[in-house]
Amino acid sequence: MNTSFRGKHFITCQDWSRDDLDMVFEVAKYLKMKHALNEPSNLLKDKTAFLMFFEESTRTRNSMEAGITQLGGHAHFIDTSTMQINHGESPKDTAEVLSSFGDAICVRNCFYGIGNEYLRTLAKYSKVPILSLQDDVYHPMQVLADMMTIQERFGNPRKLKVAISWAYATSHAKPLSVPQSQILLFARYGMDVTVAAPKEFPLMPDIVDTAYENADLNGGSLKFVDNMEEAFRDADIVIPKNWGGFLGVDNPTTSEGKTQMKANLEKYKDWICDEKLMSITKKHSIYMHALPADRGREVVDSVIDGRHSIVIPEAENRIHTAKAIMALTMGGR
Ligand code: CP
Repeated sequence: MNTSFRGKHFITCQDWSRDDLDMVFEVAKYLKMKHALNEPSNLLKDKTAFLMFFEESTRTRNSMEAGITQLGGHAHFIDTSTMQINHGESPKDTAEVLSSFGDAICVRNCFYGIGNEYLRTLAKYSKVPILSLQDDVYHPMQVLADMMTIQERFGNPRKLKVAISWAYATSHAKPLSVPQSQILLFARYGMDVTVAAPKEFPLMPDIVDTAYENADLNGGSLKFVDNMEEAFRDADIVIPKNWGGFLGVDNPTTSEGKTQMKANLEKYKDWICDEKLMSITKKHSIYMHALPADRGREVVDSVIDGRHSIVIPEAENRIHTAKAIMALTMGGR
């Protein structure tokens, strides 16, 4: 097992080997156990993580802040609208300065067509690890927690049948990063993945191609269907969640594109996870959601609050996996 992670960027799980990720899960389990026993883990004493948020967050921000506190370090939460980024400061200068002050730069930037490129540019110039807190392409912290939760429930995830389904929501056009990270990682762990989505809500073609390769290399499978029923039938795991139709319109960043996306969305109000859909999954199936969920639109209350739902343990695992990533990558200077 690899033990050399100091300074390693974490922008997508795809950049980390299976061995690397298995080590992350081992460390997350170890830290979870220590937390349960109320044993301190001062692995990052006097270390600083900068948390730069271009968008709102409940789980990601607080799992990182509480996580580094539990590891003996400190997080600076930064609303990026208060930084000189707002006056056009470059990612190069931001990375060089912050990496001379602290031990990790952690960033959420989900702006479509911008976020991942911004993180990659920071990584080029930073002397300390860049840890993604979600961008427009990937949400690696979320998918680590998802995989830890699946392993806790089922053991080896190989050949488990997982339905990743688009669902209706009105809160906002959610990024593609959660389902994209899931198809990539689940295929690497040999799972049988079915993605259900209306035609106007595709995922990025290069991500889909890589996910097919991951499945081929690791004994998993990936297929796409245009209805929820086909994906849910006999599934062990269901993950119905909205994502924006960025690739289903000419240009999602224009006002015409946004109007077109809204019109596409309104055609699919009946894409909601309900009891009837859950009844065609396996008896032991689990319902997952990265949260926040649009209750009454993505999912009915009786499912998200019901016996299949594992959303709270899934959210809790955000802190254990985030601590593992910070403990492994930070403090290398
Ligand atoms: N799942 C997730 O990333 O939640 P937040 O947006 O609250 O951080």
